[in-house]
Amino acid sequence: MRDILPGEMGAWYFAEGLAREVANRFGYQEIRTPVAEHAELVERGAGESSDIVRKEMYRFQDLGERWLVLRPEGTAAAVRAYFESGLDRGPQPARLFMLAPMFRYDRPGKGRYRQHQQFSLEAIGDGSPALDAEVIEVAHTWFAELGLRQVTLNLNSIGDETCRPAYRDALVAYYRPLKERLSADDQRRLEQNPLRLLDSKDDEGFKAGAPKIADFLCDDCREAFGQVCGLLEAAGIEYQLNPLLVRGLDYYTRTTFEFWHGALGGAQNALGGGGRYDGLAAALGFTATPGVGFGLGIDRTLEMVSEEGEEIVSPPAAELLVLPAEAGLERAAAAVARRARELVPAAVDYSTRSLRAKMRSAGGSGARWAAIFNGAEADRRVVQLRDLASGEQREVAWDDLARTLGE
Ligand code: HAM
Repeated sequence: MRDILPGEMGAWYFAEGLAREVANRFGYQEIRTPVAEHAELVERGAGESSDIVRKEMYRFQDLGERWLVLRPEGTAAAVRAYFESGLDRGPQPARLFMLAPMFRYDRPGKGRYRQHQQFSLEAIGDGSPALDAEVIEVAHTWFAELGLRQVTLNLNSIGDETCRPAYRDALVAYYRPLKERLSADDQRRLEQNPLRLLDSKDDEGFKAGAPKIADFLCDDCREAFGQVCGLLEAAGIEYQLNPLLVRGLDYYTRTTFEFWHGALGGAQNALGGGGRYDGLAAALGFTATPGVGFGLGIDRTLEMVSEEGEEIVSPPAAELLVLPAEAGLERAAAAVARRARELVPAAVDYSTRSLRAKMRSAGGSGARWAAIFNGAEADRRVVQLRDLASGEQREVAWDDLARTLGE
């Protein structure tokens, strides 16, 4: 887990502000769910055999001896909130989004943190494939307006409970004779969750010859997927069909998608991903209800924004620093800052250092102005307003300060 410092904050404001703005533009409303959830909810959602549940959860008992987790993903929580708060009885679908930290005990590395921030979005309560295309368009718009040019969309359908069992059988029949040559991890996948073999990192070329889900889709899934592809084309959104895209969470049905960046590599390093999860609500013990959504990793996305050479400036500590030249001028300094704040962010140097030291530190602070005064000037209600870049300085009355700064 890491600290995000003031110098990075401009980029975070921009990315999160744009996420809110784009989501609102499509009619999605923000929700905030607690950072902890009942372990059982998250485990049932992501699936017992998923990597997240098997080895990445911050799982603990609270003082009431309830098992909780720091949420590793937001979809199970969003579905819980949808039912518990009565959104299931309002207009459908509920269009919701979150900007929230997620926690995974993974091996930390570049773009992989134990706490990461997601822009996640869910359309719950309507099974139309048009919503799959809609949520993809929201994500696409966010990446585009962040200025990213090297993002590619990978798209697949992994079928539903009608057609997936036959596909799973075909995969097992293909991999079973290869079992001895698979890694221990993949041997376990073969027994517990064969679809995840398509996502294996230890694969030795077996995936390429494996049966393809596209050959197994039932008519309904095939038609729905055709509609998603057609709608993306109509929206001018390019995509790449990727029959190996199965995603790491167990709740997906039909459409799955991921956004990849050229400077990251492989599915492990996606900027974001999502899909349809029509079986999730029932698996959590609620009324069967369809849904579709995505989670986009803001940490990684911002790393790619700077990788592509875009620089987003962070706000300085203050644009104007008030520098009282003597002790005992706190009240006047606060009054000057209050007037400056009518126009620019302003702060006071309340330290007991010499004026020379205060000037030096103001010069290195990134501030544009210094307002300097001594006791006599305070009595006359004036300051020396100094442009810290040019060194130009002039006397300004307190009451003219905001107007002068605006010139
Ligand atoms: P996910 O693919 O597990 O999906 O995570 C979404 C995104 O979060 C990833 O593509 C990645 O950018 C970012 N991410 C995940 N783990 C880390 C990490 N350790 N460090 C940095 N970034 C990370 C979900 O979480 C689903 N809930 C998405 C979804 C919503 N599906 C339907 N609705």
